[in-house]
Amino acid sequence: MGRLQGKTAFVTGAGGGIGRAIALAFVAEGARVAIADVNQGLLDEAKAAGHGDALVPLHCDVANRADVRAKVDGFAADAGGLDILVNNAVRFHYAPLVDFDPEIVDSMLDIGIKGALWALQAATPHLKARGGGSVINMSSIAVEMAIGNASVYTSIKGAIDALTRQQAAELGPHNIRVNALAPGSVPTPGASAVITPEGWKTREGKSVLRRLPSADDVARAAVFLASDDSSCITGVTLKIDAGMTITGP
Ligand SMILES: NC(=O)c1ccc[n+]([C@@H]2O[C@H](COP(=O)([O-])OP(=O)(O)OC[C@H]3O[C@@H](n4cnc5c(N)ncnc54)[C@H](O)[C@@H]3O)[C@@H](O)[C@H]2O)c1
Repeated sequence: MGRLQGKTAFVTGAGGGIGRAIALAFVAEGARVAIADVNQGLLDEAKAAGHGDALVPLHCDVANRADVRAKVDGFAADAGGLDILVNNAVRFHYAPLVDFDPEIVDSMLDIGIKGALWALQAATPHLKARGGGSVINMSSIAVEMAIGNASVYTSIKGAIDALTRQQAAELGPHNIRVNALAPGSVPTPGASAVITPEGWKTREGKSVLRRLPSADDVARAAVFLASDDSSCITGVTLKIDAGMTITGP
């Protein structure tokens, strides 16, 4: 029996990259999973991969509060409740702060931080009705590093860490655990658009395990945080970075 047998999960930005790997890992552990994404092509691809009713593609823009509410409520009604929320959607954009177009900043904040707030607002009543649950927010090791051109992105991820602790305290009495995952650099479509081939090599060399984490590495950690294996863990940010953040000069 899978570690998430009978559970239901709503994963944002799960059309591709890390979100998709998390959704598929949850399905493999017995969960029924909504993959919420704005990219219809990726949703169609996921449906065509044939996971039956276990994988539910939903067109959903996390920046749109009403849309998030409608999709979370609709999925919870169909699936008979909600146990797990993963706030994963992101818009990557790296540039010196002085050059940032305000519309791109707004869009990154709307997706990366407000999207998590809207999804938490929508999911919390369902998690409470279930007598508990698990929320996983996607942070990044970038929060504790000085990465060139990543001020907006890392500001969002710093806020995600703070939100994780705040919500862990607020929702703990309802048996809802709130944790974050902080991956190192994972080759995904989004990250590959902002990291050069040389940048990937440097990151690999800096990791004490001399490798990059994969989306599946992150997904296995997500299964742990979503499952009862982590039933006494809340308010933490777990790194999956092959030791990149512990290297010295
Ligand atoms: N890849 C990395 O190196 C890395 C490292 C640390 C943290 N992370 C975090 O992991 C998460 C996933 O990253 P990724 O690398 O898989 O990203 P990605 O860009 O490859 O995938 C992001 C997904 O989010 C979707 N999305 C974008 N805007 C959306 C919206 N408004 N509503 C719903 N979905 C939307 C995209 O269509 C895409 O499918 C992010 O939170 C990211 O910050 C990634």
